[in-house]
Amino acid sequence: MSEHPTDADKAQRPTLTTSAGAPVGDNQNSLTAGPRGPLLLQDYQLVEKLSHQNRERIPERVVHAKGWGAFGTLTVTSTEVTKYTNAKLFNAIGKQTDLLVRFSTVAGEQGAADAERDVRGFSIKFYTEDGNWDLVGNNTPVFFVRDPYKFPDFIRTQKRHPKTNLRSPTAMWDFWSLSPESLHQVTILFSDRGLPVSPMHMNGYGSHTFSMWNDAGERVWVKFHFKTQQGHQHYTNDEANAVIGNSRESYQEALYGAIDGGRFPKWTMYVQVMTQAQANETAFNPFDLTKVWPHADFPLIEVGEMELNRNPDNYFAEIEQAAFSPSNIVKGISFSPDKMLQARIFSYADAHRHRLGAHYEALPVNQPKVPVNHYHKDGLLRFFAANKNVDAYYEPNSFGGPVEDPSYLEPPMEVDGVAKRWNHREGNEDYAQPRALFQLMDDAQKGRLFANMAGAMHGIPQFIIDRWTDHLDKVDPAYAAGVKAALAAMDEAHETDETEKHVDAMALHPVK
Ligand code: NDP
Ligand code: HEM
Repeated sequence: MSEHPTDADKAQRPTLTTSAGAPVGDNQNSLTAGPRGPLLLQDYQLVEKLSHQNRERIPERVVHAKGWGAFGTLTVTSTEVTKYTNAKLFNAIGKQTDLLVRFSTVAGEQGAADAERDVRGFSIKFYTEDGNWDLVGNNTPVFFVRDPYKFPDFIRTQKRHPKTNLRSPTAMWDFWSLSPESLHQVTILFSDRGLPVSPMHMNGYGSHTFSMWNDAGERVWVKFHFKTQQGHQHYTNDEANAVIGNSRESYQEALYGAIDGGRFPKWTMYVQVMTQAQANETAFNPFDLTKVWPHADFPLIEVGEMELNRNPDNYFAEIEQAAFSPSNIVKGISFSPDKMLQARIFSYADAHRHRLGAHYEALPVNQPKVPVNHYHKDGLLRFFAANKNVDAYYEPNSFGGPVEDPSYLEPPMEVDGVAKRWNHREGNEDYAQPRALFQLMDDAQKGRLFANMAGAMHGIPQFIIDRWTDHLDKVDPAYAAGVKAALAAMDEAHETDETEKHVDAMALHPVK
């Protein structure tokens, strides 16, 4: 093809139009009074082009702003789970459900480098025959906090300091050392799993305790797991620094490239199941998001295989506009008393209405692949009438509008208790599970954990380091000793080089 399209080429192509559909006669030269200008305001095509450019950005996600995504399928490989759930997507071996996955980092902005140490988001939207089921998880089975009241505070510490506009290690470690429930997640974050080489080389977890229910109305508690079939692979901090020096988009390149090249990444989906009788007996609160359920007591039950096999055609339309929400559940799958999950049921749809508009679920990537019939009315993005029956715009009505179907009614969930701001630190042990994790690491893994943690803490006020290492001591004295030794080694190496300390206003002017 020649550099400039010939008239013959042009004849084969569609005609360029305005957004109102009118063919455009000239897309090269603006409308001016004479060849030297000035412009005429009536050049609406120019005005429209500039105005659209000014509106190309929407607010980035308040967390998990940097992401990578692809479409694929879940194929059921075992129906063992059907005794616990009547969710249709699991009801036959070989059954396939289309899905979208978006991976992300938590703290970085939209332009952040991919190979940064952080928790990774692992969001899945299953387009089921009963509507969309969104499992909005992470690559870790636990979380930093167990009470949603603390989530905005925690996120403050991960984002930028209001004065320096820098990220503040002092704030991070101050918060974590005042929040021992974070020990488990922080240990994972600074272990090898805190820096996977790509989204394909990590597990996904629903993290929360959810529930499943069956036709008999019986409910069990469940956790969802997606184990990578590519194997776990991680970068050390030094390796990651080299990668970022070369490319800030290493995850996008790896994921897009693998799918484009037909090397489709896969994960095996499992659930763990706990009955209410078992929940009454566990030594830990099974609805505490800082805890896992030990595999020995709650074995993994295979469900199926998830494969990613199609890259989005348009990143903005299909990944940036994707709206995942833990509130999207389908028949047979439901919530639990986990207060973090409860808060997320509110928070995500609220975020989408702000970021995308009231009818965000009408955007093609969010649209269920089944008919949608509701009575919500007007507002942003109202570009089709969900309910085509114009006379039935309220409910109940006598004009054939959509009606409820009691076969979808969830069985009752028993709740009781005294309303009070219960102290979430009382009666919840924070050290045993981080200890189990620490003790399953070999010496080399422990060495990297110590170095990674020390590297992230070095330069912050000593009283915060002491508070944190006191917690580590309760996890395992070897853990505290290892981090202290790594910090001492860094002190020695940095003695002559003050410039390498964190530029961190709060570290320089600590307030006790
Ligand atoms: P198991 O020995 O049965 O399981 C250990 C789990 O740890 C495996 O799922 C393994 O994942 C995962 N794992 C291994 N190394 C790391 C690491 N550096 N960071 C995070 N996860 C890792 O033990 P338990 O079930 O009794 O759990 C012991 C500890 O393992 C827990 O306290 C928890 O920290 C961690 N863990 C437990 C999970 C669970 O659901 N029970 C899930 C993930 C972690 P894989 O099989 O993919 O290699
Ligand atoms: C994104 C809130 C805890 C995983 C978000 C967003 C909000 C939010 C507002 C941005 C949504 C958007 O604009 O699209 C909260 C609150 C939490 C919480 C209030 C606790 C109370 C968690 C936990 C997990 C998690 C525990 C994982 C287990 C994610 C993921 C995304 C996200 C993966 C990105 C979703 C996507 O890919 O679009 N969160 N979050 N969050 N959160 Fe949370």
